[in-house]
Amino acid sequence: MSARSLLVTGTDTGIGKTHASVALLHALRARGHRAIGMKPIASGCERIDGRWRNEDALALQAASDPRPAYDDVNPVALPEPTAPTLAARAAGVTVEIAALHAAHGRLAAAADIVLVEGAGGWEAPLAEGLEHRDLARYLGGAVLLVVGMRLGCLSHARLTARAIAADGCRLVGWIGNRIDPAFARADDYVGLLSDALPAPCLGVLPFVAGGVGARDALRLDPDWIATL
Ligand SMILES: Nc1ncnc2c1ncn2[C@@H]1O[C@H](COP(=O)(O)OP(=O)(O)OP(=O)(O)O)[C@@H](O)[C@H]1O
Ligand SMILES: [Mg+2]
Repeated sequence: MSARSLLVTGTDTGIGKTHASVALLHALRARGHRAIGMKPIASGCERIDGRWRNEDALALQAASDPRPAYDDVNPVALPEPTAPTLAARAAGVTVEIAALHAAHGRLAAAADIVLVEGAGGWEAPLAEGLEHRDLARYLGGAVLLVVGMRLGCLSHARLTARAIAADGCRLVGWIGNRIDPAFARADDYVGLLSDALPAPCLGVLPFVAGGVGARDALRLDPDWIATL
């Protein structure tokens, strides 16, 4: 494997894993790295030109440089927007782990860093017999946590960090995402999270109407990249 890979997980579904991954891809590229995103298993797809396409995977593909093939970014595209195990059953799809590994290998061969977005939070199964910990270990064990800044995020973030460590993986950083504009004392929560989480905060992304604007939202410390 020629690239470093990070499994991107979050405190929940819908808290900004894709949004933060897009920001991180652009920030890595701004530092001169070839950075590619992957959404190996996606549920919730629409038919575009006769193929199933997922919004997250399209966003990650568009934020990647060099630009990867869609089928490598998202080898498993499941139509129904539900838990991937249910969506796979509904579609009659058996997830072939070897095919995921092969797709990741093609991306890794073209990149310095591959960001691999999970599905839901850390304990949500990715497929029958495939957990986030399995994929993270395969990728080398490095995990990035996106914290959706809202009430309850302290417990979700700390539980996730504990589970990552208990699963033998390594939290390498976290990104706060201001998903809720009405969330009070966000700065104080960032302080508490910084004390509680055993990895550096790479930044806190502001709330942006419509969820657009992740492109220039993060500035990365080159020293952090060097630790990967
Ligand atoms: N900082 C933000 N400001 C405003 N809207 C945001 C922000 N981050 C995310 N959103 C919006 O919230 C929704 C969920 O974000 P996103 O898709 O990145 O979450 P996710 O954790 O990747 O979800 P999933 O579990 O479905 O993959 C999207 O509509 C996105 O545009
Ligand atoms: Mg997503």
